[in-house]
Amino acid sequence: MGDLWIEKYRPIDFSQVKGHKEIIRRLTAMVEQKNIPHLLFAGPAGVGKTTVALIIAKKVFGETWKQNTLELNASDERGIDVVRSTIKDFARTKAIGTTLPKLIYLDECDALTREAQQALRRTMENYTTTARFILSCNYSSKIIDPIQSRCTVFRFRPLEEKDMQEIIEAIASVEKLKVTDKAKRALFNISQGDARKVENILQSCATIKKEIDESAICEIVAKAHPEEIREILDIAQKGEYVKARKKLLETMLRQGLSGIEMVKYIQKELWNMDMGDEEKVRLTERCAEIEFRMVEGSDEFLQLEALLASFIKK
Ligand SMILES: Nc1ncnc2c1ncn2[C@@H]1O[C@H](COP(=O)(O)OP(=O)(O)OP(=O)(O)O)[C@@H](O)[C@H]1O
Ligand SMILES: [Mg+2]
Repeated sequence: MGDLWIEKYRPIDFSQVKGHKEIIRRLTAMVEQKNIPHLLFAGPAGVGKTTVALIIAKKVFGETWKQNTLELNASDERGIDVVRSTIKDFARTKAIGTTLPKLIYLDECDALTREAQQALRRTMENYTTTARFILSCNYSSKIIDPIQSRCTVFRFRPLEEKDMQEIIEAIASVEKLKVTDKAKRALFNISQGDARKVENILQSCATIKKEIDESAICEIVAKAHPEEIREILDIAQKGEYVKARKKLLETMLRQGLSGIEMVKYIQKELWNMDMGDEEKVRLTERCAEIEFRMVEGSDEFLQLEALLASFIKK
């Protein structure tokens, strides 16, 4: 309990990444030469863009990769100014234990306005000796030309059925699951090549039973109740923390929600709860704080657990 499979089974080496053969070949060469240009990763959700960026960071920096890598979400609701000042603070100092530039991974760049992208372009130029950017987006057509022309562009495709099957089989063997061929096919069709979705649905099924057939998959996918969030908060408020935490994980997996989406639902729902206004304001502030930490890249489930703990009535 508590471990998200999407993290547990995140490839930690290029050799473990399924599909994207040509991309991996080219990136391996760049990493070997320790010569990373600015990169732009374009492609759908859950196919390995963040995963590959993290592998690059680990390969380039070794043990100091965490200190030398910044992971940010460009669509941060607090605005591009916050993103820029965070980048500035990070890029201002030299990397630790190496002469190479630091790495900045910026997710969801296509959510930025053109003006914000212009500002990002200037930031990239200002820090070009101390930092390299890996930008990630769903659609490269939404990225302004001056940024595209500064980056080497890699286009990620949805994963193919055989890749997805390998991912499913690897997990099934570790978790001791039996997944029928029809179930594998259903998983692939529902996911449209998104490995995150497949892993979340699979984990959700596995909390119920170890033998997974097509109907088990369909049942999980069909259930998606927003009222569940309210239920979780009520349970937490009553002080039944372990129960609330278990339900939180289940809901998150079944509905395929990200940590940030969960916080948004919680923030909305808490205003309907039975508690004083002061308490509501306090919890809203907590939500904002937790969301901030997630955007900064800290473990989503850990942060949600901390948020849940704040709901326990004192
Ligand atoms: N090519 C792949 N090979 C093996 N596992 C993968 C692959 N792509 C994704 N996964 C699994 O899915 C999880 C999510 O992938 P990742 O975070 O890299 O997606 P992403 O492309 O960055 O998506 P998003 O656009 O939503 O940020 C990974 O932790 C891993 O478990
Ligand atoms: Mg990502």
